[in-house]
Amino acid sequence: MDPPQKMLDSLEEYQKLYKESITEPDKFWGRKARELLTWQRDFDTVRSGSLTNGDVAWFLEGQLNACYNCVDRHAFKDPNRVAIIYEADEPDEGRNLTYGELLREVSKVAYVLKSMGVRKGDTVAVYLPMIPEALIALLAITRIGAVHSVVFAGFSSDSLRDRVNDSQSKVVITADEGKRGGKLIGTKKIVDDALKQCPDVTGVLVFKRTGADVPFTHGRDLWWHEEVQKWPAYISPEVMNSEDPLFLLYTSGSTGKPKGVMHSTGGYLLGAAMTGKYVFDIHDGDRYFCGGDVGWITGHTYVVYAPLLLGVSTVVFEGTPAYPNFSRYWEIVDKHEVTQFYVAPTALRLLKRAGDDFVKARMPKLRVLGSVGEPIAAEVWKWYFEVVGKEEAHVVDTYWQTETGSNVITPLAGVTPTKPGSASLPFFGIEPAIIDPVSGEEIHGNDVEGVLAFKQPWPSLARTVWGAHKRYMETYLDPYKGYYFTGDGAGRDHEGFYWIRGRVDDVVNVSGHRLSTAEIEAALIEHHAVAESAVVGVADELTGQAVNAFVAINKGNEATDALRKEFILQVRRSIGPFAAPKAVYIVPDLPKTRSGKIMRRILRKILAGEEDQLGDTTTLSDPVVVDKIIAIVHEAR
Ligand code: WT7
Repeated sequence: MDPPQKMLDSLEEYQKLYKESITEPDKFWGRKARELLTWQRDFDTVRSGSLTNGDVAWFLEGQLNACYNCVDRHAFKDPNRVAIIYEADEPDEGRNLTYGELLREVSKVAYVLKSMGVRKGDTVAVYLPMIPEALIALLAITRIGAVHSVVFAGFSSDSLRDRVNDSQSKVVITADEGKRGGKLIGTKKIVDDALKQCPDVTGVLVFKRTGADVPFTHGRDLWWHEEVQKWPAYISPEVMNSEDPLFLLYTSGSTGKPKGVMHSTGGYLLGAAMTGKYVFDIHDGDRYFCGGDVGWITGHTYVVYAPLLLGVSTVVFEGTPAYPNFSRYWEIVDKHEVTQFYVAPTALRLLKRAGDDFVKARMPKLRVLGSVGEPIAAEVWKWYFEVVGKEEAHVVDTYWQTETGSNVITPLAGVTPTKPGSASLPFFGIEPAIIDPVSGEEIHGNDVEGVLAFKQPWPSLARTVWGAHKRYMETYLDPYKGYYFTGDGAGRDHEGFYWIRGRVDDVVNVSGHRLSTAEIEAALIEHHAVAESAVVGVADELTGQAVNAFVAINKGNEATDALRKEFILQVRRSIGPFAAPKAVYIVPDLPKTRSGKIMRRILRKILAGEEDQLGDTTTLSDPVVVDKIIAIVHEAR
């Protein structure tokens, strides 16, 4: 069968629509919102507020329900259509769920949540592995008008505790255990540890994934499989206002405390549906496979919302790309006749290194290959296109953030010409600006470099940071008045294509995971032997960036391997295994200015082997310390 007709015929058509989206946003987005979403009440005002004032709102009088849009409308039309293709950790243990079944499962869980006291507007925390129940949980929460706050199941109990408390969640949904790459994860135990310090949590709903014997707190914990039997298989969806919160998702910033980024209903859903349709060219009957975890924004938008809003099948993959071997992704793609595949470059680097022999599957239906989360190097891009896509599938390097909700700079598959390493052109409604970080002025024209900002609001822009609107303003909207500031550096080439250079703040990107150096430093300082620490990101062949920590220790401690291991363990315990430093250097002191500011730039240079380019170090409070650090780094290598 021939591939379906593309959503747009040509680049000219994109340019025409793009222009309309920028010059007549009300007309463009009003039309698209009515085309792609089902509203229980139509809106009158397409857009209000401004970036300057931080009061952006979309589709104001409109009313809709996210779950209805993702499930009911497809279930009514075609209940037997497959909604979820569950690919379990073990290759033969998966199953499919139709839209009809999904509606019933979601309704039951919605009832259970109500019975646990969850009301419209309440926040529910979700700490689950990548299983269909994660999607069922999210949809059940939105069905009753509650707000989901997913915490990635790789986070430690301390991180979970902080997020549950900050989001004021009274109910947590979790599983007995997780299973990934053949290994078991003690999910419920982590929740129990976290909840020791969450006094407001009154209920925990536990899905039985492995059947392990786990501790149960009577009066608080309930088994999912027991509760759902008590309730009917249909409950009507709550009518929500377009601007009602849909979810919170915590993300790292320059400061230590994670931010609960809040997305609202109508605008976010439209961003997900629009990018699903135009970036990934999703058509009826497609089978879409995004390898991201629901614990991150990629999983929210492209495992759950985009494919379900468009009524196609979404693959929920519980395992890892390396289990049982490096062919796993390609076997899934082949087996389920996947049409779009979307993953972070870090996985592609791993698989490219493993060798082309693992890519034996034919994958005849594959039309689009997405990349997300970090820059994709040209040679990895080419490998993706040639070896995985057999030079037939379109590669889309999609740039976006937790805060942007959906892709913002990206090719449209098969429409936008691509250049390996460039995220290419802005999506509809996105008006990028390159700003000179020194003067704060926008730099016009092509062939320019600076920091990346956006000049007008788009529907899926995050509306606030939970309980901290001031922080939202200070982080995103105040740095350059009238613009949304991304925190990334970028260039615009001679043809107007964008090249993302990476973060300009203290955020490191490890395997596509966004980590705050300040947060890791705060974790280290909790160890009694740590006097002071400085964490920096260094280039890493496999993970993009890796975390390296410099630690000055208190008197009475000795710089041993055992102590270094304890520091790594401290970070694993405090944040999660994925944030663990790859190297720890115990140093006599950190390089500081006379006013006490830690010079991380010097540490980065030393790690990059550029100690001859440190610049003037005589103004440091103790210049000699730099030579000592250089010697320690050299000795460790
Ligand atoms: C940061 C956002 C967006 C989903 C996953 C990450 C980096 C994202 C790209 C890309 C280069 C990218 C940026 C951004 N990033 N996509 N295609 N090319 N860099 O979401 O955790 O909110 O991180 O990821 O630095 O600011 P996130």
